[in-house]
Amino acid sequence: MEKTLMIIKPDAVKARHIGHIISRVEAEHLEITGLCCLHLTREQAEEFYAIHRERPFFEGLIRYITSGPVVVGRLECEGAVEHWRKVIGATDPKKSAPGTLRALYGIDIERNAVHGSDSVENGIVESRFFFPE
Ligand code: RTP
Ligand code: MG
Repeated sequence: MEKTLMIIKPDAVKARHIGHIISRVEAEHLEITGLCCLHLTREQAEEFYAIHRERPFFEGLIRYITSGPVVVGRLECEGAVEHWRKVIGATDPKKSAPGTLRALYGIDIERNAVHGSDSVENGIVESRFFFPE
């Protein structure tokens, strides 16, 4: 089954949105096949976001994502990657469609509440990163 990786980011954990976000996952018929709460180390974060290493926002992103605990989940359904990206909305909460998780719970373009894999291939790679089979 197609897999995507969800991360409930530090701002959303701090703001006590874990329950709302997990409820939405279940309402959207995404099956949770892995779930954990952890505080990413700088090394883990730099490896996970290696694709953004050259971006101007990289250092800020690493500081933010390691600033507190996150909830990481492996979500599965047919078309899971595209479906979950639709549910979370655009990167910038100000541009996210109404009702999407980032529109509901995101603070700004960096503190945008949730992560979702951006391709089927990355869904597999990112799922393995946190849930090695
Ligand atoms: P994500 O990977 O977290 O699901 O987000 P995304 O695909 O919508 O956005 P991406 O381009 O992959 O960026 C990864 C994360 O970096 C932070 N960011 N900050 N300050 C900025 O301009 C900026 N741009 C991106 C966000 O936390 C974004 O989700
Ligand atoms: Mg991305």
